[in-house]
Amino acid sequence: MIVIGTPYTPHALRILLLGSGELGKEVAIEAQRLGVEVVAVDRYPHAPAHQVAHRAHVIDMRDGQAVRDLIMRERPHFVVPELEAIATDTLIEIEEEGLAAVVPTARGARMTMNREAIRRLAAEELRLPTSRYAFAGSLDELQRAAAVIGFPCVIKPVMSSSGKGQSVVHAEAGLADAWVLAQSKGRVDMARVIIEGFIEFQYEITLLTVRASGPDGAIETHFCEPIGHRQEHGDYVESWQPHVMSEKALCRAREMAASVTAALGGRGLFGCEFFVDGDEVWFSEVSPRPHDTGLVTLMSQQQSEFELHVRAFLGLPVSTQMLQPAASAVIYGGRDAKGVRYEGVAEALRVPDTKLRLFGKPESYLRRRMGVALARAADVDGARRRSRECAALVRVTADG
Ligand SMILES: Nc1ncnc2c1ncn2[C@@H]1O[C@H](COP(=O)(O)OP(=O)(O)O)[C@@H](O)[C@H]1O
Ligand SMILES: [Mg+2]
Repeated sequence: MIVIGTPYTPHALRILLLGSGELGKEVAIEAQRLGVEVVAVDRYPHAPAHQVAHRAHVIDMRDGQAVRDLIMRERPHFVVPELEAIATDTLIEIEEEGLAAVVPTARGARMTMNREAIRRLAAEELRLPTSRYAFAGSLDELQRAAAVIGFPCVIKPVMSSSGKGQSVVHAEAGLADAWVLAQSKGRVDMARVIIEGFIEFQYEITLLTVRASGPDGAIETHFCEPIGHRQEHGDYVESWQPHVMSEKALCRAREMAASVTAALGGRGLFGCEFFVDGDEVWFSEVSPRPHDTGLVTLMSQQQSEFELHVRAFLGLPVSTQMLQPAASAVIYGGRDAKGVRYEGVAEALRVPDTKLRLFGKPESYLRRRMGVALARAADVDGARRRSRECAALVRVTADG
């Protein structure tokens, strides 16, 4: 049974957030609300979650020694990864040494940071339907693999997220460029890509799946209503909940989500991504943490994905009940600048039933997510209209 102490005292219940972006900020706020001491970490100062944490640190989270030193200094009860680019081998050691619990598990964090590990687990061990796939470590291997998979295909660095380094290739001639792009944008020195057959899906969803303790202590799996979303350049631009699916497709997605999250283990919320065509469902990927498309749950659910995550890893009860249809629309920086200003906020919030999250990131880039507009309405179409309208009214400006 979890006991929550008082922050800043020796009895504090402490979490260490590895990654302090906009999703981490909401996790930090939910933990704060429960009186948990929050230590937020990122690679740059004044990251969103740094601004709402009890303490903030700046380290290179891919540096195992730096991660270990910080854990020894802060002695958190839970280490909560918010992103993929982390020294996960160190997290495995930390968990084995009993120094802290890694959410959901250190192995889960390690497997999901590498597209090869998670794809092999899903397709080869769990036998979930996925796109056709192969892996390549050189242009030569890529050309041979693409000939087998066929065109169009999608090329992604095995270590990357948010669509970085990803391209859709329609013919052999495009492979060299795709290889160069993947090399330039992939994380670390892992010159490896996955080649996936292109799936002509009708729509794609995120199925937020929560593994939480039931009254008898046994782990139960809960599902949120499916979240529909639209991606541009491999990055999400809007999402909505619920996304209506056939009974059969929903059932299949839930079965697959239960299977893959059980294999990763532990407690917490997972974002399971699926492609759907009629009753047919393909597993795409899973992240063992709140999902960007799930920001919509701040408006749609009784407990947002962030509250669900915190409750689940602390061993508290959860409810995935949806209250109302809602949508989210991303506000991009639209420019490269430091210390931007958000104008038009009052006009934006005059759109009925809307809320804004402005992330407070110290630096804006053209395609950097700087905020999100949330809206609810009687139906998803209305909510999408409102969230887009609200987002469009916010202007990110800067001097010069
Ligand atoms: N095999 C595929 N077929 C069709 N579309 C794909 C495929 N793989 C990725 N996509 C599109 O690109 C988006 C991002 O790909 P994803 O594998 O989720 O990468 P990331 O980890 O960067 O989110 C997906 O949400 C989907 O819209
Ligand atoms: Mg994805």
